[in-house]
Amino acid sequence: SGQCEYNLRSPICCIMGHVDTGKTKLLDCIRGTNVQEGEAGGITQQIGATYFPAENICERTKELKADANLKVPGLLVIDTPGHESFTNLRSRGSGLCDIAILVVDIMHGLERHTIESLNLLKMRNTNFIIALNKVDRLYGWKVCHNASIVKAMKQQSKDVQFEFRTRLTQVITEFKEQGINTELYYKNKDMGKGTFSIVPTSAISAEGIPDLLLLLVQWTAKTMSERLTYNNIVQCTVLEVKVVEGLGTTIDVILVNGVLHEGDQIVVCGMQGPIVTSIRALLTPFPMKELRVKGSYEHHKEIKASQGIKINAQGLEHAIAGTSLYIVGPDDDVEDIKEAAMKD
Ligand code: GTP
Ligand code: MG
Ligand code: NA
Repeated sequence: SGQCEYNLRSPICCIMGHVDTGKTKLLDCIRGTNVQEGEAGGITQQIGATYFPAENICERTKELKADANLKVPGLLVIDTPGHESFTNLRSRGSGLCDIAILVVDIMHGLERHTIESLNLLKMRNTNFIIALNKVDRLYGWKVCHNASIVKAMKQQSKDVQFEFRTRLTQVITEFKEQGINTELYYKNKDMGKGTFSIVPTSAISAEGIPDLLLLLVQWTAKTMSERLTYNNIVQCTVLEVKVVEGLGTTIDVILVNGVLHEGDQIVVCGMQGPIVTSIRALLTPFPMKELRVKGSYEHHKEIKASQGIKINAQGLEHAIAGTSLYIVGPDDDVEDIKEAAMKD
């Protein structure tokens, strides 16, 4: 396939934004899942990760008759909570990503944690795309399932188009007040040169989803080929420490670069000192399934970045989320690595 000839890893995309703007629902819409309705109170309380193979993205963007060769093997999407108690998780998520989607509810405009997320992205100099979500809530919206936003907008009445333009203009003004220039993506000639792109979407009826996916993969492949070039130095972060029935304590990690093998000796930061153990099982959810949702897992002998992975090993009970995972290579001194791990 065309994937290997470029030797690129999948871009990692973090979804951020205020509570209830539709971050998880957008992912549900792309995955064809129903994770959001299973959440307690409809509130995300953990970081999630989902792998979208390039084939699925191609399928979902067919509508736009785009170049099918996406150059990247897929897309690893990280879901974050928007609720105010989870600033640390938003920060952790945004620290891992190559690009972000900042979700704004078209009926609400910029909200408190939209601005907090925006500041995290500015601080790390992370490029982002704005999903202006819930367009189906414009009064009188005519559903055009999975249509490109241009096509969907043409189907709308003058009143809907007017309300859309009014709300869009308001959001552009609110971004401007934060020092950020924004423009509808198909009118944006300055993407990457200071003007951020807005993609109107609906997570319920899927208008604008093809646009969002295509923009993401094309943009990352076009502007980040150096950053996305695969290298074998392991870069891996612990997202969550979890007890799983039948497995015991496991860690969910994001492998940003490099490769992990079953049996690898690893070191992670623990509450009572460094934990040295070896990988008993390397598990992933199936493609298009959420890592944080209980389900069946695929077992792997080895996994290459980028991926969201569940690791089963002994002694992980006191591992600390948010820290780095290290591999002990044949030439490494375990003591040096233990010291590095505890500096996190
Ligand atoms: P947190 O993770 O808790 O911050 O929320 P979130 O941003 O993930 O939002 P979530 O996916 O939980 O959606 C919040 C509510 O908005 C749910 O009731 C969704 O059904 C609804 N919703 C999300 N996207 C859309 C949309 O595009 N249109 C409409 N009409 N409702 C939406
Ligand atoms: Mg959510
Ligand atoms: Na929610």
